[in-house]
Amino acid sequence: MSNASSIRCLITAGPTREFIDPVRFLSNPSTGKMGYALAEAAVAAGWTVDLVAGPVALEEPDGAILYPVVSAEEMFHQVDALFDACDILIMTAAVSDFRPVKQHAQKEKKGGASMRIEFERTIDILKTMTERKAHQTVVGFAAETNNVDVYARHKLEEKRCDWIVANQVGEAGVGFAADTNEVTLIAADGSSLKIGPATKAVIAKELIEMITPNAS
Ligand code: CTP
Repeated sequence: MSNASSIRCLITAGPTREFIDPVRFLSNPSTGKMGYALAEAAVAAGWTVDLVAGPVALEEPDGAILYPVVSAEEMFHQVDALFDACDILIMTAAVSDFRPVKQHAQKEKKGGASMRIEFERTIDILKTMTERKAHQTVVGFAAETNNVDVYARHKLEEKRCDWIVANQVGEAGVGFAADTNEVTLIAADGSSLKIGPATKAVIAKELIEMITPNAS
């Protein structure tokens, strides 16, 4: 195993918010619990941890360096600034795939009975990092409501990750907001390991053990 104290890990957590105007935004139900549990497990393993988190209502994990962000664009710039120095990137964040084309400086009045908002894609942070990765181990998460294994394996390949954590969302006791979870860790060679059901803390500890880089 590598010397634990020499491992620097960059973890993203929580949702992003894409503001339409100062009082309205597009987001998702992520609470950041899985990412924060991973940050705590990584600190406990002796790693140096940079935690880039969207808006969450969680206590700052002891020992991690927290970088609060709001939008996908801000998360991208923070990850981009920290990526070269890290040995492991774990993207648990539920990054919004779209943002409004126009962000209004003032609150929009409701006007008529319906409203059209045009959205554009945000940058894919994970894919952008793997395109320029050097020595880093990169771990993605795949949040899926259905066809979890198939979609996760597709993302593993498409985003050129070393590992992907397939995570069922949209059911009680797993995924967003729950204190427990059940995931499948899939390696780039196609092998997989089911972890849980268990608390997110237990799952995080096992994930950190599994992805620890071997000494070369
Ligand atoms: N991700 C990212 N940048 C984005 C969107 C997602 O870095 N703009 C990362 C997530 O942090 C996660 C992985 O990509 O590690 C997969 O995210 P997920 O939301 O499951 O999938 P998407 O790529 O958004 O694809 P889809 O919405 O079509 O399922």
